[in-house]
Amino acid sequence: LALLGGGGVLAGLAATGGARALAAAGPPEVRPPLPRARLLDADEPLRAGRAVFSGGQEGFGYNGGIPGPTIRLRNGDAFARRVENLMDQPTTVHWHGLVAPQDMDGQPHDEIAAGSGRDYAFPIRQRAGLNWYHPHPHGTTAAQAWYGLAGFFVIEDEEEAALGLPSGDQELFLVIRDAQSAAGGMFGYVADIAGTEGEVPMVNGVAWPRTTLARGFARLRILNGANARVFRLRSQAALTVIGNDGGLIDTPQPVDEIEMAPGERVDVLMDLRGFEPGATVGLNCNAAGWPMLEIEVTEGPETGWEIPGHLSEIETLVHSGEPDRTFVFQENERINGEVYEMNRIDFIVPFGAVERWRFASARGAPHPIHVHGAHFQVLEGTVPNGGVRAVRPWERGWKDTVNVRTHETVDVLVRFDVYEGRYLLHCHKLEHEDHGMMMNFVVS
Ligand code: C2O
Ligand code: CU
Repeated sequence: LALLGGGGVLAGLAATGGARALAAAGPPEVRPPLPRARLLDADEPLRAGRAVFSGGQEGFGYNGGIPGPTIRLRNGDAFARRVENLMDQPTTVHWHGLVAPQDMDGQPHDEIAAGSGRDYAFPIRQRAGLNWYHPHPHGTTAAQAWYGLAGFFVIEDEEEAALGLPSGDQELFLVIRDAQSAAGGMFGYVADIAGTEGEVPMVNGVAWPRTTLARGFARLRILNGANARVFRLRSQAALTVIGNDGGLIDTPQPVDEIEMAPGERVDVLMDLRGFEPGATVGLNCNAAGWPMLEIEVTEGPETGWEIPGHLSEIETLVHSGEPDRTFVFQENERINGEVYEMNRIDFIVPFGAVERWRFASARGAPHPIHVHGAHFQVLEGTVPNGGVRAVRPWERGWKDTVNVRTHETVDVLVRFDVYEGRYLLHCHKLEHEDHGMMMNFVVS
């Protein structure tokens, strides 16, 4: 699959031919256009309800689409929004990556009944970053997400604005995922407790889309919104990671490949300066051999903009001791021997303290571990043969979800210093979450 790798114009042309050669198994001859998410209007409620996707497939969507309308606010703003549940089943909305008071966090015990609504409001007190919203009812999160419920929640601040990053048409918000065409349709959902995967890649709700970007730099803001699939992203164009779940990282990180587990986000600059107008560049998934998104390069203005050498000032959390807690992710969706119970508090964390948590995968699947109520910093871990699991370029800075591969351990430093209250830790493989790989804890 050399055609999915490499850099420069020649590799770009080779990949176009390659994509055609794969057409029988993959993309159609003429790809559909990539839908771009619109902004949520000022007083528009978020409505979880039926949606019709390309090809007439029916699913769920927020305000009729996937992604739902984007919420875009600045650090210091107040967020307030009505959520209406137009579905025939209970739901909740969790603002993944937003630090919210516990009763605004959309936790499983805080259901919005079918046909009713709820007002969410909390202050935005965090740095710029790419967050998202999705359902979180216990036992049915995986199905609701599979059927299309997800949207972006973007925070901006002055530090980010000062960098002059590509914006407007050169900034793409992409929710990447898969769909299960063999199950009777694009959105057929057949739950697999090991983590449901599909045979077709989707970007912003459309399989195998195409789009255009002008020559120069583009900013790709990517969410892995899949239930279970881990993506390994590559392109013929040079990719530089500048941010992740918790916003900008410290310095730009050029990468050949980006591994993204469910729930993780990356902020990536794609360098299209060396491509002629008319050239085709892909955003490909190396793990599945998918040329997921085809990008046609168009003429663009010479801006002379360069990637800044320094992106963000990041406080480094310090903790010199052994782990304060260890979480072992085990058989039958257990954590440390227990399956989730909605009304059981599993542990208590002191407010304001820096704690070292160890995540250990004891069973044959990667587990993307997500923590509500705070961000954390990833430290080195271990891999099965006693080697070191280095911090990956997209794991620098602040994170809220980290992928723990089979038999790896990953240590993180975490500090809950915004709200006291009850929060969650869980695997973001949604079928693992639904089957109980989740814990309640209280910050106090
Ligand atoms: Cu993105 Cu607790 O979830
Ligand atoms: Cu898991």
